[in-house]
Amino acid sequence: MAERRPVSDNQSSSNPNTYDLIGLDNALNLSRKDSGSLFAKHVNPVLKTMLSAIGFDKNFVSAEGIFVYDDTGARYLDFLGGYGSLPFGHNPRDIQAGLDKAVDRPNYLQAQASALQAALAHDLAAILPGELSMSFFCNSGAESVEGALKMARIATGKSVFVHCTGAFHGKTLGALSVGGREKYKTPFQPLIPGCVEVPFGDIKALEEALDQHRCAAVIMEPVQGEAGVIVPPEGYLKQVSELTRAYDTLLILDEVQTGLGRTGAMFACEHEEVVPDIICLAKALGGGVMPLGATAATRQVWEKAYGGLSKALLHTSTFGGGARACAAGLMTISKLVEENLPLKALELGEYFLEGLRTLKQSYKAIKEVRGKGLLIGLEFDKPVEGLLDKLTAGAINEFAKEYYASLVAGQLLGDHQVITAYTLNNPNVMRLEPPLVVTKEQIDYVLNALEDILSQRKGLLRMALSVVTKKS
Ligand SMILES: Cc1ncc(COP(=O)(O)O)c(C=O)c1O
Repeated sequence: MAERRPVSDNQSSSNPNTYDLIGLDNALNLSRKDSGSLFAKHVNPVLKTMLSAIGFDKNFVSAEGIFVYDDTGARYLDFLGGYGSLPFGHNPRDIQAGLDKAVDRPNYLQAQASALQAALAHDLAAILPGELSMSFFCNSGAESVEGALKMARIATGKSVFVHCTGAFHGKTLGALSVGGREKYKTPFQPLIPGCVEVPFGDIKALEEALDQHRCAAVIMEPVQGEAGVIVPPEGYLKQVSELTRAYDTLLILDEVQTGLGRTGAMFACEHEEVVPDIICLAKALGGGVMPLGATAATRQVWEKAYGGLSKALLHTSTFGGGARACAAGLMTISKLVEENLPLKALELGEYFLEGLRTLKQSYKAIKEVRGKGLLIGLEFDKPVEGLLDKLTAGAINEFAKEYYASLVAGQLLGDHQVITAYTLNNPNVMRLEPPLVVTKEQIDYVLNALEDILSQRKGLLRMALSVVTKKS
């Protein structure tokens, strides 16, 4: 592709004709090769190379529901589901129609008490457990976590946060400070001081931390997603909630990934009848069509944080609560409730988990099957040290070691047209997180595809797997 840059360094930026622009119409028609080289040149060359290595450098040109299509017309089944941001699959027509209804509203007019924002906050309060009735709207999961951390500090006047090993709360500086993967944190130190890490699921360690520090809040995911889909021991969340009350500390539950039906309840905390003081939401809230996050809190916490003229505007966002995002949120909640999708996720999740557990009995390459509802992790045994190095003459060993589940994902895509990925804080775990509208037949298809890969003996990954799949 020809190099595109301004024709002169001295040109007037007010004249668009002096720039060689691609524009939307051409962008929609870029070939796989051109979009790949533009991505490598202007976005992330390393990511482009990684995607190519496992065959994920397709040119996906359309999508509807659980299906995605590339420029050759091939159809793929999406079991990645936008990392949980596609509760209804791609481009849900009814949610898009809802956006059309709101199309004449001013999208960004901050100097108003927006009707759509107010209604969305109301509807969220209606489905949230307990007294979580006040919502602040933002645009992403990390941003909703930032809002929660700031709210906890200002409401309590305390500064320490307790968080969990393996946790993932996003990649902004505040969210990283309470995250649990050193690789993501180390290059950005110093992060927020006063963050104490405890093992997820270890109630004694939490009590010790709360005993030793004056904590503003404990932050955790009810089921850890990016850690590799870790479900805590039964009763843990309830004990966490009781401890935070006993130590006069706030409980922030990050339900960015688990919220809105994913785990088989509207919110994962409802499995244990726990109500946090602050809850973080994003991903599914935008219905797969708009970026939309929310930090919701009890009135009591909100009053302590922002109640008062001098404090009411301490935390704001230009785009937060825009009309179209709120319209998408309103439609999303209605659809989740009307179609009873949390219950569907519970039933289909059980079916999927059972199928995967059956596979595990036959194939030693599967170390563990974990999950709740349609948030499922499949942990692979690490390949025998040096094996992939030998097989590939060192060519992809580093990549394979760290991103082993990606190799399986690559094969699922290449051989069976199924889209999956690894979990961010544990690359040996494949995440299976299809839209909540997935069918039993589609789950069966993926189970058969996995069995096909695990049972074969040819090719790089098959050879690697054949070693670890042999029953001892
Ligand atoms: C539990 C949790 N919190 C926060 C985030 C960050 O969300 P975002 O990528 O929208 O910033 C994620 C993303 O995967 C998440 O799983």
